[in-house]
Amino acid sequence: MMAFQTNQRIERLLKRYGREDSPEKWDFFVGHRPLVRYRMNRQIKKILELIQKNRKNVGEFTLLDIGCGTGRYLNHFLSLGKTVGVDISEPMLEKARKNTKDQAILIKADAENLPFKDNTFDVVTCSYLFENLNGPKDNPKKVFKEMYRVTKKGGQIIFTVETWYSIPNLISYILSFLKRKTPLNFYSVKKIRKLTTGVNPQSVKIYGLSPITVFFPWARDPFSMVKLIEKIDDKLEKFMPSFGAQLIVEIKK
Ligand SMILES: C[S@@+](CC[C@H](N)C(=O)[O-])C[C@H]1O[C@@H](n2cnc3c(N)ncnc32)[C@H](O)[C@@H]1O
Repeated sequence: MMAFQTNQRIERLLKRYGREDSPEKWDFFVGHRPLVRYRMNRQIKKILELIQKNRKNVGEFTLLDIGCGTGRYLNHFLSLGKTVGVDISEPMLEKARKNTKDQAILIKADAENLPFKDNTFDVVTCSYLFENLNGPKDNPKKVFKEMYRVTKKGGQIIFTVETWYSIPNLISYILSFLKRKTPLNFYSVKKIRKLTTGVNPQSVKIYGLSPITVFFPWARDPFSMVKLIEKIDDKLEKFMPSFGAQLIVEIKK
């Protein structure tokens, strides 16, 4: 494992994610908000679909999940092949070790300096990370370049971002200002294009996820509408391909 150099940016990240209660807080946030859970499950389904479509059944399959947190996504990838997760936070990794029953390789590393050689992984994934790279010294472009570097030629990079054109995200943006906190780093299609310039991939595709939840200002599903929302999303995603509270970006290197 590469020596781990700390600095002001990493200290800030560890204050947020490196506390003993950070894993519980993150799992509580997802677990107790049915609409967040719904969108996360929808994300996982789409990511698995994209991986399966591109997958060639030859040789060993290797996947890296960056900012793997408590291993929520890793658990869905384990059956695909060799699965590696990196995170900056030891408590998050500890929880991921438990959640994956030690079946994934988990490494403490900084997404801006990944400890892997060029062209190592068939698939590199990343979820709920880019919007959280909102500190003055965070460099999302550097993270993207690292993801690209460690992906094999012909491999896939799949990451998700929250968009600013959704009511819940706009509310979160306004609340951050009122609470004098730094808002999350929300994205648009244009901003994704900017993030992904400077490399020469075979293709870049952007999929809108869950367009209807753009209009739901709450996350707790007080009217038990998840089933209905799912049906509407199934239809809308076909007509609004790059619109949603979240976007999934698929890049073929
Ligand atoms: C919001 S959580 C998402 C966790 C997981 N991807 C999920 O969706 O359940 C963000 C995770 O990214 C990690 N993280 C933040 N900045 C990072 C960096 N520069 N390098 C590695 N991990 C980072 C945090 O420790 C945290 O576990």
